[in-house]
Amino acid sequence: MRLPTLLLAAGFLACATEKSSTPPSPPLAEEAAPPKPAVKVNELALLLADGGLTLDADEPSTCAPCHTAVVAEWQDSLHSRSHHSKDPLYAALRTLRATKQGPHIPGRCAVCHNPRDGQDHDSKAAVTGVSCATCHQLDGVHLGDDRKGTAALVKRKDKVFRGPHDVPDGTSPLHGTGPALPALADGTSLCLACHAEEKNPAGLATCSTGVEHASLADNRSCAECHMPVVELPSGPVSSRPTHRSHRFLGPHQAQRLGEAGILAEAVKLTGRFEGTKLVARLENLSGHSFPTGFPARMVVLELRAFDAKGKELYRNVKAEPMKEHPEAVLNRVYADAEGKPALAPFATRQVRDSRLTPGEAREVSVEVPAKAVKAELSLHFFLAAPPMLKAIAYTGPEAKPVALAPVVVTRP
Ligand code: HEC
Ligand code: HEC
Ligand code: HEC
Ligand code: HEC
Ligand code: HEC
Repeated sequence: MRLPTLLLAAGFLACATEKSSTPPSPPLAEEAAPPKPAVKVNELALLLADGGLTLDADEPSTCAPCHTAVVAEWQDSLHSRSHHSKDPLYAALRTLRATKQGPHIPGRCAVCHNPRDGQDHDSKAAVTGVSCATCHQLDGVHLGDDRKGTAALVKRKDKVFRGPHDVPDGTSPLHGTGPALPALADGTSLCLACHAEEKNPAGLATCSTGVEHASLADNRSCAECHMPVVELPSGPVSSRPTHRSHRFLGPHQAQRLGEAGILAEAVKLTGRFEGTKLVARLENLSGHSFPTGFPARMVVLELRAFDAKGKELYRNVKAEPMKEHPEAVLNRVYADAEGKPALAPFATRQVRDSRLTPGEAREVSVEVPAKAVKAELSLHFFLAAPPMLKAIAYTGPEAKPVALAPVVVTRP
């Protein structure tokens, strides 16, 4: 416990003397002088720490004075809202599953949704969700053997935080640092601890983002798309001019903020008239199926055609897309043992998967009146399809779809 205190004092003195530009005073006793620290403590961090900061691994706001941008971004992400007190859709399904499948359910969800405390699901550490310490207070990730969430994360007990860079220990006055964490630096392995594949009690795959990503033709990492580079330091103490965003861009965040966000980059949508046909072409640009993840997600392709005066002549879907134009719906549908439609957690088989596979390009065509000269094609992203909303009796703001900017097509 003495060494860090000494290092701290030594570093702070170095910093103070530099400022007043007086020569360093000789050590009081030559023989008792501590070994010269091999590492320079970050001077700004020392000044900040000297202000009496205390660090709590489960309180991201205590990281903010030094890692300001990263903390603000994370607070805006769904990782900071993965606890049942903050995500209404998750809370509702957790309750429904616990009622139907038993009291062990919240413990099963905790390994990924409140990974910092699997015992008390409402402790401060649990409420913080997928926090800084979840991803950085690690010595690695152990994938395979059906390990998930906390079972896949090799947690450290001491306050050493490792990131994408080799940061010599002793650089930060308030926590240990160390060599880069390969599973984090590769931008994918760490994510797979929670995003690889989830199965329901019947062994049926429900979320399969990691498996889908493995079949992507190029090898772009999760971080390349979900943590884009920000042209600013990650905080005042950073030794680098840029960092990767911790907003973990995704559709739920887009929905909450009422903007397309990363969804705008998911699909290339184009269209054309071909005689009496209107053809829409969808090309999946995301790094996995579209939509991916939570199996109740649904995307509807809306097609509308107009005459020369702008009067609507045709619309493919109105109230019930799955009945009116199932080819325009990208989703997964599940059934129970009797073949009746069921929600993924309670199903025994999957009866439909019309999502776009990684890299897939698909055309959807409809007959439109010959007088149609203009068309509007648009995608609507639903966080939860109507059967899920009904089952969890959810009518709040998250039920509203995100509408992506329409693509306009005119007849040549
Ligand atoms: C879901 C996992 C995850 C969470 C949660 C997370 N990080 Fe990170 N963090 C990463 C990854 C991955 C990188 C590496 C990005 C890259 O390749 O540059 C990173 C990079 C960093 C860096 C290096 C930034 C730089 O200057 O390059 C810092 C500092 C950091 N994180 C701090 C934090 C803090 C503080 C929090 C909490 C507010 C946090 N992280 C939450 C995964 C996470
Ligand atoms: C008093 C300032 C200070 C506080 C508070 C602080 N850190 Fe740091 N941290 C540093 C310094 C300095 C570095 C080294 C930065 C560098 O060299 O670019 C660092 C580095 C890191 C790294 C390695 C980043 C990389 O580039 O690989 C991680 C991860 C990290 N801190 C996480 C945290 C977390 C999580 C918290 C809050 C629980 C926190 N830090 C609080 C000063 C601080
Ligand atoms: C400890 C488990 C865990 C790890 C590790 C993890 N995630 Fe997540 N992630 C979650 C959970 C849980 C959610 C869902 C939160 C919710 O919506 O309730 C989530 C949500 C997301 C979302 C959806 C956000 C939205 O707005 O829709 C994205 C994107 C994401 N994570 C990317 C990543 C990336 C990239 C990594 C690796 C750098 C990563 N995650 C690592 C557990 C994890
Ligand atoms: C080529 C870019 C790209 C790569 C690589 C990529 N993604 Fe995505 N991801 C997207 C886009 C675009 C979306 C938004 C469309 C959607 O929701 O399917 C998305 C959506 C998501 C979502 C939201 C699912 C939901 O509805 O909650 C998660 C989670 C996610 N990605 C995780 C990952 C993980 C984990 C990896 C790596 C194994 C990864 N992504 C690789 C582009 C990418
Ligand atoms: C292996 C890790 C893992 C486990 C275990 C897990 N989840 Fe998730 N969950 C995720 C991830 C990752 C996401 C977000 C990305 C996605 O859509 O795949 C998510 C998203 C969700 C969502 C959608 C939230 C949103 O943003 O709209 C619900 C609902 C949900 N989970 C319910 C549960 C319930 C209930 C349990 C426990 C029975 C559970 N999950 C267990 C990883 C997990």
